[in-house]
Amino acid sequence: MLENSKLSLSPGAIIGILGGGQLGRMSALAAARLGFRCHIFTPENNSPASHVAFKTTIANYEDQDALRSFANESDVITYEFENIPIETALFLERLKPIYPSPSILAISQHRGSEKKFATDHGIKVAPYELVTNYTELERAITKLKTPSILKTCRFGYDGKGQEKLSDPNSAKKAWEKLATNDAILEQFVEFEKEISVIIARNNNGALEAYPPVENQHENHILAITLAPAKIEEATAKQALEIARTLAEALDLIGILAIEMFVLTNGQVVMNELAPRPHNSGHWSQDGAVTCQFEQFIRAISGQCLGSTKLVKTTKMVNLIGDAVNDWPKYLGTLNAKVHLYGKAETKPGRKMGHVNFID
Ligand SMILES: Nc1ncnc2c1ncn2[C@@H]1O[C@H](COP(=O)(O)OP(=O)(O)O)[C@@H](O)[C@H]1O
Ligand SMILES: [Mg+2]
Repeated sequence: MLENSKLSLSPGAIIGILGGGQLGRMSALAAARLGFRCHIFTPENNSPASHVAFKTTIANYEDQDALRSFANESDVITYEFENIPIETALFLERLKPIYPSPSILAISQHRGSEKKFATDHGIKVAPYELVTNYTELERAITKLKTPSILKTCRFGYDGKGQEKLSDPNSAKKAWEKLATNDAILEQFVEFEKEISVIIARNNNGALEAYPPVENQHENHILAITLAPAKIEEATAKQALEIARTLAEALDLIGILAIEMFVLTNGQVVMNELAPRPHNSGHWSQDGAVTCQFEQFIRAISGQCLGSTKLVKTTKMVNLIGDAVNDWPKYLGTLNAKVHLYGKAETKPGRKMGHVNFID
């Protein structure tokens, strides 16, 4: 590890971002407002982030020469999605500070290690069993019963890589469909609400969390976020405490999103982690004093954190697939703020943009 605890970048510094998606794009826009320049590293041509960045390197995450040049030109490195190969992060860590640290990235890449880390720190998760073969799955079903959800431990997103088991007979088909030897069976949580908390921490250990927000999914993809979540104060307190515990235990520098379930009795159960800006934080662009992207840039560049205060009650609606064609309608809507990602091709299920309805 490099000695970087005193890292504090000034305007003009270069922030290297692995990944070229919309989260990188909106981070680069926020960075530009603070006078920073972003260098995007992505295998993808014409990526959303590249449209607004100072520089883009198009190369594979395994290309060590390209990674070395990228690191040489960056003052700090980060990433905008979790599925960066861990070897890439470890390679870069030897050259420049990378935040959040690769050890956090590694935990967030595996559903099992994520849940173990949480329970080791006293945080409740859905009862689960790791399964590496079909016999173990049968044993896990006997223990956890159905309904339950079988998920691949790695690379899942937007409900991809998971199968709901309504009864034990559905196990064989689900196992064959997932075709993995690294899976997790989770008891199905009869939750009342899904919420999330986004928290940032800088290299001085300062912490700031956004108020918990409420998330509604359609076809396993986030559709709507309501900020703030309509929950009891005691529930919000539990959620914020989970976020604080995780950020500190992980020794976070950067931003962390924590997805959680609220049970009917008000208890909060952690679902998953993401050490990056998160779709459920997009409301903050128009509803909070400091948006999550600016907060992320502040945290990794060694600045003080901004206020996470909610200024306006906000409803964030994702524009998924063809829904993006309605953008002119939203431009003409009072109190609607349109954010488009510049993706060349519209596909079903693809996040193309979002709208924040304020107040
Ligand atoms: N154990 C569970 N019990 C009930 N619902 C679940 C459970 N795990 C996941 N879900 C539902 O599926 C959605 C996606 O699962 P998640 O684990 O967040 O994976 P990802 O977001 O990576 O696809 C969750 O937001 C929730 O609605
Ligand atoms: Mg999720």
